[in-house]
Amino acid sequence: MFPGWMLLVLLLASQQLGRPARGHSLDGAVTSARERVDLARHILAEAPLIDGHNDLPWNIRKFVHNQLKDFNFAGDLRTVAPWSRSAWSHTDLRRLRRGMVGGQFWVAYVPCESQNLNAVQLTLEQIDLIKRLIDKYAHQMQFASDTKEIMRAHGDRKIASLIGVEGGHSIGNSLAVLRILYDLGVRYMTLTHTCNTPWADSSSVEHNMKYPEHGGLTSFGKAVVREMNRLGMMVDLSHASVGTMRDALAASKAPVIFSHSSAFALCNSSRNVPDDILRDLAVSGGLVMVTFYNYFVKCGPTATVADVAEHISYIRDLIGVDHIGVGGDFDGINRTPRGLEDVSMYPELFAELLRIGNWTADDLKKVAGLNLLRVFSSVEKVRDHMRLSGVLPSEVFITGPLSGARPECFLDVDSIEREMEL
Ligand SMILES: *[C@@H]1O[C@H](CO)[C@@H](O)[C@H](O)[C@H]1NC(C)=O
Ligand SMILES: *[C@@H]1O[C@H](CO)[C@@H](O)[C@H](O)[C@H]1NC(C)=O
Repeated sequence: MFPGWMLLVLLLASQQLGRPARGHSLDGAVTSARERVDLARHILAEAPLIDGHNDLPWNIRKFVHNQLKDFNFAGDLRTVAPWSRSAWSHTDLRRLRRGMVGGQFWVAYVPCESQNLNAVQLTLEQIDLIKRLIDKYAHQMQFASDTKEIMRAHGDRKIASLIGVEGGHSIGNSLAVLRILYDLGVRYMTLTHTCNTPWADSSSVEHNMKYPEHGGLTSFGKAVVREMNRLGMMVDLSHASVGTMRDALAASKAPVIFSHSSAFALCNSSRNVPDDILRDLAVSGGLVMVTFYNYFVKCGPTATVADVAEHISYIRDLIGVDHIGVGGDFDGINRTPRGLEDVSMYPELFAELLRIGNWTADDLKKVAGLNLLRVFSSVEKVRDHMRLSGVLPSEVFITGPLSGARPECFLDVDSIEREMEL
């Protein structure tokens, strides 16, 4: 029986010879599940595991109205109501630690029902919540807004905590709001959630919940993508329609991500990514962060950690290991795979890949976080390049009637007579 460190040495040695672990003694040596989990933990201690999507902030709003005095993140939430009773709760600090989570995108999600109403305000409140949460638990969490800060937090053994916004409705059709979100630390925006915006179609159009309104991105939608490029905010295509995926891939000067989606070929949910899009994603240097919701893994109510590993393996066979990450969607789903029930279980997923036999330690480090760091760093380089070449903030604005907008909810500022002079 080899101890974990010895296996790691063997793995690293086998890589230095440029060969996969398979064909070496590892195949036979890593016999027990425990040894594989130990090895996975060693790997995740070296390279940060950066998960693309966690919806805890929305649950804090739902359960305790964003009152952090009523929220003990350091405690065991499995024993505290209403968390203990909820199928949607999978996250607390102790379990994040056990799960070796080195970086987390916390999601400032607000529901589509707030589109063209108070979506912007709700988004700001969720960003405020995430920042207060990080401050309250500063001994374990560290706010991060760039690749260097992620690595520094990991070096300090803190959970690098990043902010993502889920749904273009959060910018209220305004590039000014988009820019301010970047200033507040938002580092990705999912172009749509389950609703179309006035400038982008959502994946809901694929199953006729909503008719395609634009066939993808409108010209304003493309301006949103370019402004995100200029700012250095990652474009997230989870929840987008296939047309929006295509248009965004074409419009973006920087690689894009899917923060929580799996392979359409294995489960034909419109939330997953079709093969041709995966190929284009690879060509552009982007990343799909494989998600764990049973209905996206197995298209049904039950799934296992092995089924998630199958999505990862499938995508590697199709486009290579450089374009895969993980985006569990914990706290945003109510059915998790067996063996991957909460945030403490990530090492089990990496152990499962080791079990398959043709995964090296380097491969696993890429999937864990190095691929995300590479994409994020490309996005930062595109930002720097655009700034150096003098690209100015976009002053494009949306014209025409807003989809779903209720006129009585808006002050049409431009139509008001001047009344400042008394
Ligand atoms: C997925 O496959 C099922 C069964 O073949 C089919 O009924 C369904 O329409 C497909 N869904 C999509 C989004 O392609
Ligand atoms: C790894 O092994 C699996 C299972 O044998 C196989 O399906 C897959 O194609 C292999 N992939 C690579 C990249 O070697």
